Amino acid sequence: MLKDVLLALSESSLGRRIATDAPFARSVARRFVAGETVEDALAAARALNEGGMHVSLDYLGESVNSAEKAHAAGATIGAVVSAIGREELDANVSVKLTQLGQDIDDTFLLEVVNPLLDAAAERDLFIRFDMESAEYTQQTLDFFVERWNEGRRNVGVVLQSYLYRTEEDVAKANRLGARVRLCKGAYKEPEEVAYPDKTDVDANFVRCMEALLTDGNYPGIATHDEAMIQATKRFARDHRIDRDRFEFQMLYGVRRDIQRQLVDEGYHLRIYVPFGEAWYPYFMRRMAERPANLLFVVDSIVRESPLGFLRGNGSRGRKPTA
Ligand code: FDA
Repeated sequence: MLKDVLLALSESSLGRRIATDAPFARSVARRFVAGETVEDALAAARALNEGGMHVSLDYLGESVNSAEKAHAAGATIGAVVSAIGREELDANVSVKLTQLGQDIDDTFLLEVVNPLLDAAAERDLFIRFDMESAEYTQQTLDFFVERWNEGRRNVGVVLQSYLYRTEEDVAKANRLGARVRLCKGAYKEPEEVAYPDKTDVDANFVRCMEALLTDGNYPGIATHDEAMIQATKRFARDHRIDRDRFEFQMLYGVRRDIQRQLVDEGYHLRIYVPFGEAWYPYFMRRMAERPANLLFVVDSIVRESPLGFLRGNGSRGRKPTA
């Protein structure tokens, strides 16, 4: 219920205006977002690399309807690609196609995306198309497969286990040899397209993970769910699948305890590092995934308000898991 409210708020422009104008909001969002500038993102990537983690940088933004804004986003992502190459970071890039003009049309989208794929290929870098809400699934997969059929191999896609169709999409991606990130899915979807119950989403995650580990091309298993992580480790061990054949992926600032543990155990782990000014919908989806995170927000508000003294100056506040 609360989850639904938070997901609805993530799409509300009024909610966005109120949150982004609030003075405390930026510092709260910093828990999940590396900062607003490219330099902030690069600094976070450097620190994670030093801790033995791979990175995927994500310039926040989605649902862009103006060509000018889509080109501007493309220019920032282009700068990120150059900087990764220049600084020899262990990082790739994730993009949302609606940020680059998917809602305008596919010809326009191609104009923005192709130079990014070229720039990335020159530097031997990989670009992943994030998956957005279900109304974009087919269009995104078609766009991906067209790039693949043009011979591009530095591009990958995301599949969400809450969708009924995903097991079939995993099989198709495996036949292509495409690189897939598997996640549960972060949007509010109707029962017609997505499993309403978590147990079904999780069971489908496990089925898809097993197919990807068996037949896939270096899949990214993206989850903070300890049961999913254990199932992946167990399957890999029982089927003698080498740790170099897949990676775990997790979000910046979420379950840092498990992040450290996976790296210490010798697994590949990639941290998805979002940055940019348009942090509101991303931040709200993180709240929806774990409404207990709201306690962290409320606590931050109290600490930064004139009432903060009630909690004492040294209060560290309640933080989300890890
Ligand atoms: P689940 O939501 O069941 O949570 C399991 C446990 O993880 C919780 O009990 C809690 O301990 C912890 N946890 C999860 N989320 C948390 C949070 N926000 N704060 C604190 N603790 C949290 N989705 C999408 O639709 N398209 C995409 O392209 C991507 N891309 C993507 C990349 C990467 C690297 C990751 C890790 C995730 C995505 N996602 C995504 C988001 C994904 O679909 C999903 O919404 C979240 O990962 C939460 O699902 P979990 O698998 O973590 O499990």
